Amino acid sequence: MEKEKFYITTPIYYPSDKLHIGHSYCTVATDTMARYKRLRGYDVMFLTGSDEHGQKIERIAKAQNTTPKAYTDKVVATFKDLWGKLDISYDKFIRTTDDYHVKAVQKIFKKLYDQGDIYKSEYEGLYCTPCETFFTEHQLVDGKCPDCGREVEKVKEESYFFKLSKYQDRIIKHMEENPEWLEPSTRQKEMINNFLKPGLEDLAVSRTSFTWGIPVEFDPGHIVYVWIDALSNYITALGYGSEDDSLFKKFWPADVHVVGKEIVRFHSIIWPAMLMALDLPLPKKIFGHGWLVINGNKMSKSVGNVVDPFVLVNKYGLDAIRYFLLREIAFGQDGNFSNEALIQRINSDLANDLGNLVSRTAGMIEKYFGGKLPSQQKETEFDADLIRVAKETANNVEEKMEKMLFSDALEEIWTLIRRTNKYIDETQPWILIKDEDKKDVLANALYNVAESIRIVSIMIQPFMPKTPALIWEQIGIKEGEITKWDSIKEWGLLGREVAVSKGEAIFPRIDMKKELAELEEAMKVAQAQAVANQPKKEEKEEEAVEEITIDDFLKVQLKVGEVISSEKVKKSKKLLRNVVKIGDEERVIFSGISEHYSPEEMVGKRVIVVTNLKPRKMMGEYSYGMILAGEDSDGNLSLATVDKADFESGSEVG
Ligand code: ME8
Ligand code: MG
Repeated sequence: MEKEKFYITTPIYYPSDKLHIGHSYCTVATDTMARYKRLRGYDVMFLTGSDEHGQKIERIAKAQNTTPKAYTDKVVATFKDLWGKLDISYDKFIRTTDDYHVKAVQKIFKKLYDQGDIYKSEYEGLYCTPCETFFTEHQLVDGKCPDCGREVEKVKEESYFFKLSKYQDRIIKHMEENPEWLEPSTRQKEMINNFLKPGLEDLAVSRTSFTWGIPVEFDPGHIVYVWIDALSNYITALGYGSEDDSLFKKFWPADVHVVGKEIVRFHSIIWPAMLMALDLPLPKKIFGHGWLVINGNKMSKSVGNVVDPFVLVNKYGLDAIRYFLLREIAFGQDGNFSNEALIQRINSDLANDLGNLVSRTAGMIEKYFGGKLPSQQKETEFDADLIRVAKETANNVEEKMEKMLFSDALEEIWTLIRRTNKYIDETQPWILIKDEDKKDVLANALYNVAESIRIVSIMIQPFMPKTPALIWEQIGIKEGEITKWDSIKEWGLLGREVAVSKGEAIFPRIDMKKELAELEEAMKVAQAQAVANQPKKEEKEEEAVEEITIDDFLKVQLKVGEVISSEKVKKSKKLLRNVVKIGDEERVIFSGISEHYSPEEMVGKRVIVVTNLKPRKMMGEYSYGMILAGEDSDGNLSLATVDKADFESGSEVG
């Protein structure tokens, strides 16, 4: 019989220098689903990749004095390292710079142009480069990007447009007729009410003001808008538009696109419109997940609260991190990351509930029976309820997994783990052992616990790639029929004569206090390394001073700021960490003047601050601006200040 197919995708990621644990969530969730479906016998295609074109990447590369391709090559290598580290079982990794993708996107663009879905006009409006998104004036919030809160730029360019408006009614109809197409359903309502019903505008789908993108074949100078390029990956990866499209024929439509909530709009409006225009079926589901946040803020490089996934995995092990991510973020909602929350979960759910269950059981079988249970066993009054919970759990876990409710599925599995621990307390093996006549009852109790552990170990497989084998080794379970997914529904498959080999604790308990201190240190080292590894700006030779125009000068925003506190940065000879009041605002600004000014001298000074400098990370924290100082030929520094000592902070300098 031919296997049923299952095609699942993650978004393709923007190459970013600093991968954080939030990035891992989407991929780990998708991987978990892919593993689950494989265990259930599906022929799975799991796609991930990198989204490498666009103005944002071009600018980053320029700032790093490198080419976009060299930059993305470097970052894609770290992506692959991270996915390896997290044991992500993707079947294909697509790069939008791959030749077959470029060609297929050009074909798609040409087809849409030839059939009149794309036309040429002029774009005048606002663009958020970090989000690679066009906005209209009324979509802005306080004049800034509604998605990320950053400044937008005015653009006026000749541009090709895609007739998005033409598909509006069909998309609304599709959503209304398929309430489970976009989940959670609240997102579907949001899309209909906020975007579709007010009316879609045609979408600018080419750019001319920069070059890092896929050229429009028939109009050189235009490059394809990065979202048209990116969304196409889901079909070009399967060979759509190439000579061999057998995978496309087999796997399209996708069973589910897993995406973060901030990009649901692209996947539920622009992508379906593109597919309708191409006369292709729509994906069966779009799953919009929440974010891993720190104190309510999305983790991001620019917010400066990134957490290094490599550090976390090295320290706690892969399975603990995967467990935490999928347990902590409930479906559709955000989940908070903190080291305390992570350690708390490891100690209570993993070390205590699961780890302890396994080592207690192996320990008792070893101690009471020399490592092997006798086949002579006698039932207890407590068995029926344990078996009932095990069977219920198996059904509930499948139900939650089918809906990709990972946190709920884990909750179900832990219900069985806790129930099993309770069964040990009910049967009281340590009392039974005192009575020679009850050896058969004791053997039966320990057998039931081992059988329950078997079922648990199978159900955690999609979430935790490493732990099941460790459990099997200790409980003497051989991989085979009794570790297949469907065996979770049958009680009693484990041979009666369980033979254990007790090993190390699978999840050792962590000393919270000691750990938090150590962790902070490890993060600092990792971040300092990341800063040190940033390519240095080319050292400029002494050369004739380049003249700038007044416009160049006006780009630099200078303001008067008052230093309200200052402290030495530990481990740095030069740095002071200052808090500077600029008008109503307070900012952290680092300055390399510790050898010339003491923190006490700094406080109260009115200094000149460059306020529109891109935030820079120093010593694990962001510095938001620069305090100006003069340097003489001996290297002595003197701060630039204002002549009147009480001159108002926040005043413009220029
Ligand atoms: O949006 N918590 O790429 P991207 C959870 N290239 N998920 C997070 C997260 C966090 N803190 N931070 C990021 C793009 N993500 C486009 C996609 S698809 C055709 C093009 C998730 O690198 C985010 O929600 O900005 C998104 O799903 C994914 O990482 C990639 O984000
Ligand atoms: Mg993003």
